[in-house]
Amino acid sequence: MPVYRLLVNGIEREVEARPDTPLLWVLRDQLGLTGPKYGCGVGACGACVSLLDGEAARVCVLPVGELGERAVTTVEGLDDHPVQRAWIAGDVAQCGYCQAGQIMSTVALLRDRPQPSDSDIDEALRDNVCRCGTYPRIRRAVHAAAE
Ligand code: FES
Repeated sequence: MPVYRLLVNGIEREVEARPDTPLLWVLRDQLGLTGPKYGCGVGACGACVSLLDGEAARVCVLPVGELGERAVTTVEGLDDHPVQRAWIAGDVAQCGYCQAGQIMSTVALLRDRPQPSDSDIDEALRDNVCRCGTYPRIRRAVHAAAE
């Protein structure tokens, strides 16, 4: 099996994997980074969202063999980030399963739009599904993080 050198949360990691292994499983099963969650496995729910060179990506549908040189950031790679603080202050999570994906999508959104409107937020997080319906709290926390 091929060996891949990945830059994950600022640390170089070496993994052996089939090229078609979704990055999600490399992160979770080989590197122990269980922040990104498995929800749908087809890129539809957003539970697995992590950053690739700062861009939000659904790593359940990205074969590790196609990652290339892009740096990976999972929710574990954030360190007292304003988005995390806003999430805690706003008591956003209910069951919590989708929240790492929501947070990482928000980090990417605020990088591109530091002062997003409600419609920017709705558009950016449209495909991050929350079964508990925490959307109003998420929207408030995104605004709080932007302040
Ligand atoms: Fe990746 Fe649903 S698990 S988008």
